[in-house]
Amino acid sequence: MDLMDGLKRTHDCYSLTETSLNQEVVLMGWVLRRRDHGGLIFIDLRDRKGITQVVFAPEVHDESHQKAHSLRSEYVIAVKGIVRRRPEGMENPKIKTGMVEVACRDLRILNTSKTPAFSLDEEGEISENLRMKYRYLDLRRPHMVEGIIMRHRVCQTMRSYLNSRDFLEIETPVLTRSTPEGARDYLVPSRVSPGCFYALPQSPQLYKQILMVSGLERYYQIVKCFRDEDLRADRQPEFTQLDMEMSFIDEDDIIDLIEGLMRLLFKETLGKEIRTPFKKLTFQEAMDRFGTDRPDTRFGLELRDISDIAAVCGLKVFQKVVSAGGKVKAINAKGMGDLSRKDLDDLTGFAIGLGAKGLAWIKIKEDGSWQSPVAKFFSEEEKTAIRQRLDAAPGDILFFGADRKSAVCRVLGELRMELARRRNLVSKGEFGFIWITEFPLMEYDENEERFVSLHHPFTAPMNEDLEMLSSEPANVRSRAYDLVLNGVEIGGGSIRIHQAPVQEAVFTALSISEDEARDKFGFLLEALEYGAPPHGGIAFGLDRLVMLMAGKDTIRDVMAFPKTHKAQCLLTHAPANVSMAQLAELYLKPDWKKVPK
Ligand code: AMO
Ligand code: AMP
Repeated sequence: MDLMDGLKRTHDCYSLTETSLNQEVVLMGWVLRRRDHGGLIFIDLRDRKGITQVVFAPEVHDESHQKAHSLRSEYVIAVKGIVRRRPEGMENPKIKTGMVEVACRDLRILNTSKTPAFSLDEEGEISENLRMKYRYLDLRRPHMVEGIIMRHRVCQTMRSYLNSRDFLEIETPVLTRSTPEGARDYLVPSRVSPGCFYALPQSPQLYKQILMVSGLERYYQIVKCFRDEDLRADRQPEFTQLDMEMSFIDEDDIIDLIEGLMRLLFKETLGKEIRTPFKKLTFQEAMDRFGTDRPDTRFGLELRDISDIAAVCGLKVFQKVVSAGGKVKAINAKGMGDLSRKDLDDLTGFAIGLGAKGLAWIKIKEDGSWQSPVAKFFSEEEKTAIRQRLDAAPGDILFFGADRKSAVCRVLGELRMELARRRNLVSKGEFGFIWITEFPLMEYDENEERFVSLHHPFTAPMNEDLEMLSSEPANVRSRAYDLVLNGVEIGGGSIRIHQAPVQEAVFTALSISEDEARDKFGFLLEALEYGAPPHGGIAFGLDRLVMLMAGKDTIRDVMAFPKTHKAQCLLTHAPANVSMAQLAELYLKPDWKKVPK
């Protein structure tokens, strides 16, 4: 194998253009492809920055030309040569270096490579498991490098923005106690305290509040969080938050700060101007109009309530649902009246798959008349009322759901997204930000038979709802806010409770006894008694934000080493067995018989 032997790289594979003609340069990188053409050998040389064509010609340097025959994909080489213009007709205007090539005078093969398990050229779908197993190869692919670079730039911009606003970057522990974000904890057994466990943080929530009691006033951290929950495209067991907390502020301060951050991030990393202030919706409005608390607001298809009309119509299912306290809601799919019978059957199947009992529809024909299996159940007045409520016109199709309110919202909310997907209602590169506010403070959990926090138990109730804490806990709204981008929750936070009596009242409403509260969060409660300032904060899912900025479909594509949906790392084979001796040292005795199949 050759050595670099003092040879220094002079350029990367992205820089050379016609301004460098006739210069002697040294490039180093990986062989992407080799092509042999009538005595000449061409390779595309790739490094982190780009691709440059290198040509080996016997008349320029015979020895290099001979050696170049042995080059294979992913060999690591150094090339010294002269930049020259590509012959006419051989240019590649698609890449920045496409007008030039480097005629090699010295080739050094720095390392060979086994044949990769998949091609590193952009084209073609590659199994994700294979990509994860050979992540070091996958990460050589330009579009993966792009994601990693964008993530780096986003972090840099976040840091400089917050640093310039008087924030301190402070680290909090990873070996800690359970934090209350509602997912299952990852536990770490202690060797020196038999039978005791650390929990990996689901977020730095408790520590950041304590930092406010400490008087540090403005904290941030780009921090790993761990949650043992079911994984999806936008969920990983370990993920990164931009976490922050501030003292002596209210909701508007946080919102202004974050809108400024988003403006800067999009400008610096994507060159995009985004307009602020972002729209705001209360939780209730979001549910009523979009059927979800994380609406994609880049298109219409909003939900409308027609329960009052449905209550008196001739369609029994609608009537019954309303009289039982449920809702009938509808979507006007504008201009989608050309959906075929098969499309409608598919969409009905889609709704039923989500738990709906059916999906009634009405097509508005050119003459304004209705084509629908349920047309006969509506009087002329009811038809007019529906037409007006839904702003229906010829060519439209209306979809109806009748059920408990939460179920109708969920099904029609999903149907709305499905219709938008089918009709490509959103174009790539479009960004829709929206704040969701006034979340319920708590919701009733049927399994636990008690109220549980929607955010976490330190979120402050809205002042005007405080007196309902004991009488109508379900109606108390919180001072929590989420930031939603393109239908993805990218961040969430709240103003916190900073006074012990309010915290106690919230614990009582959540059926958390004094003993339990002292046991779990005693250290925070005690800290709050030592002059806690009013404070609040927010945390962003960095992976999710970068995924959306980079136009990717999954956060795995913007993480260097993601895990599978079974929380496995296919590269290192974590999690893995450990020896009995290690278990014994931790006072753990496995009972494999109990492991579910
Ligand atoms: P929350 O639980 O809403 O709030 O989390 C904040 C943001 O983190 C992202 N996120 C995730 N990203 C990837 N994989 C996951 N498993 C995952 N879970 C959450 C989301 C979410 O909006 N301590 C509070 C914040 C606060 O109150 O200040 C918290 O953690 O984008
Ligand atoms: P049925 O009377 O059950 O044949 O239903 C008549 C139409 O109403 C069919 O198109 C069903 O899909 C639809 N439908 C039935 N139940 C519901 C419901 N709960 N919500 C919306 N549509 C329904």
